[in-house]
Amino acid sequence: MSVWALLAAAGSGERLGADRPKAFARLGGLPMLAESLRRLDDSEWIDSIVVAAPPGWVEPSILLAEEIGAGKVSACIVGGADRAQSVRIALAEVPESAVVVLVHDAARPVLPSDVIGRVLEPLSEGWDAVIPGLAITDTVKRVRGEEVAETLERDGLVAAQTPQAFDAAVLRRALASGVTGTDCAALVEAAGGRVNVVAGDRRLLKVTTREDLELVASWL
Ligand code: CTP
Ligand code: MG
Repeated sequence: MSVWALLAAAGSGERLGADRPKAFARLGGLPMLAESLRRLDDSEWIDSIVVAAPPGWVEPSILLAEEIGAGKVSACIVGGADRAQSVRIALAEVPESAVVVLVHDAARPVLPSDVIGRVLEPLSEGWDAVIPGLAITDTVKRVRGEEVAETLERDGLVAAQTPQAFDAAVLRRALASGVTGTDCAALVEAAGGRVNVVAGDRRLLKVTTREDLELVASWL
């Protein structure tokens, strides 16, 4: 069974506000991309990796992969206008023979190795996709403008993280169907697929702001 990892790193990082795309913001002396790339490359579960880079950053991504010795990188491509487009373009590099595809955000640099095994396992039990989820501890409200419209039932709410694991054929069909969503699992859900949730990890924090970057840097 061959497992391909797609690393979504093609965002611009507007909210981080650095002078370069978020995946290339400095984290511990290297571009942030290096951290998740090295961890995927080191994982016994992963056979090959495709990196979706921002326009103009394919060459630096290839050089970075070489610098850190990430030998499983089989392609670096220019991503698309949104995350789903970037994943779709990266998936085109994956051979039809691939059975399982793992999709991960470069914006979540701290990828604990056990999470990879955790999201891959339920696929063999027939799930179409598997996501790491974190129970939400705050009370969540829907707001309209400055007014609270409703308070959601917190029971049963989780925050979805990556890496997300997919039956490769299911992900291909979901991406081709043209449905939209903020993560790949949402596309599979919309296409009628069954998505399993396993325990997430607080260290998989998505770096969005300068404060997030400093926090993640303090963990390394
Ligand atoms: N991503 C991508 N292609 C895009 C947009 C986003 O591959 N066209 C990736 C980002 O690189 C990131 C992940 O999807 O690893 C999650 O996106 P997000 O955190 O929103 O990153 P950015 O879009 O770069 O940040 P911002 O929204 O602040 O501009
Ligand atoms: Mg974004």
